[in-house]
Amino acid sequence: MNFENKVIVICGASKGIGFNLAQTIDALGGTMVLHASSDEGIQKLKGTFEPNKHVFFQANFAEPTQLEQAWQEQIGSAQKVDGFVNCVGLRSRRPINLLKSELVLEVLSANFVSHLEMIRILTKKNFYNTGLSIVGISSIAAHSGGAGVTAYAASKAAMEAATRCLAKELHKKEIRLNTIVCGQIHTEAYDAFMETKTDSDQVLERQFMGLGKPQEVTDIILFLLGNQSRFITGASIPADGGYLV
Ligand SMILES: NC(=O)c1ccc[n+]([C@@H]2O[C@H](COP(=O)([O-])OP(=O)(O)OC[C@H]3O[C@@H](n4cnc5c(N)ncnc54)[C@H](OP(=O)(O)O)[C@@H]3O)[C@@H](O)[C@H]2O)c1
Repeated sequence: MNFENKVIVICGASKGIGFNLAQTIDALGGTMVLHASSDEGIQKLKGTFEPNKHVFFQANFAEPTQLEQAWQEQIGSAQKVDGFVNCVGLRSRRPINLLKSELVLEVLSANFVSHLEMIRILTKKNFYNTGLSIVGISSIAAHSGGAGVTAYAASKAAMEAATRCLAKELHKKEIRLNTIVCGQIHTEAYDAFMETKTDSDQVLERQFMGLGKPQEVTDIILFLLGNQSRFITGASIPADGGYLV
């Protein structure tokens, strides 16, 4: 797979799946707009990827109304985009009695509203090349109830529903959109989650193919970005090690 002369925007590129994807596309010759929200995340990206080839974008997705200005100031329309992959994920685990509306709005903003906002920005005339492919990272939480993950699950379900609508709407512009429904993947966030637990990971009892690797998700993203998936749009594609079977 060749990504030379392709410009790919990766949001949430500083960790886990996004970082693995960025390393892979860099090795395949692609040019990237690499996003993180924290200073630490941006410094990691600048220290890893060649600043003369790639550009860097820092923005807090919990504040979607600030995104367009941030994009205009930092990136603008200098590079026409061939792919957009959104790996940003704000997790939350709260029972309903502690699930205040401020937290729900923060999670929906970071995981869903900003996803739409990025799509709105990138699908403007002169911002993208014909054949633009958009990939959102969803979760098994959107399909299978989990106690306490209400806000996170709703944000991912909203992303998948919006993907189906936008696939029909943006087909006229030759833009495709899909989501990947991730099961448990071995990332920094997973290690942090396991440190808070005293028992084993019950998800893995149902995810019978074991814990996923970031590269296994990256390989599906590469397929969805490329021409080989040109007949697929609006789909929620599982990368769940059998969890939802
Ligand atoms: N890992 C899994 O097992 C799993 C399972 C199902 C779904 N997913 C989904 O897969 C995606 C990637 O997950 P991951 O575990 O690889 O990485 P992650 O640890 O969730 O981090 C992904 C990125 O999100 C960025 N981020 C966090 N808060 C943000 C905010 N408020 N605004 C903008 N960016 C923000 C982080 O940048 P900074 O650090 O710079 O803030 C980081 O680059 C997420 O959407 C997640 O929900 C993961």
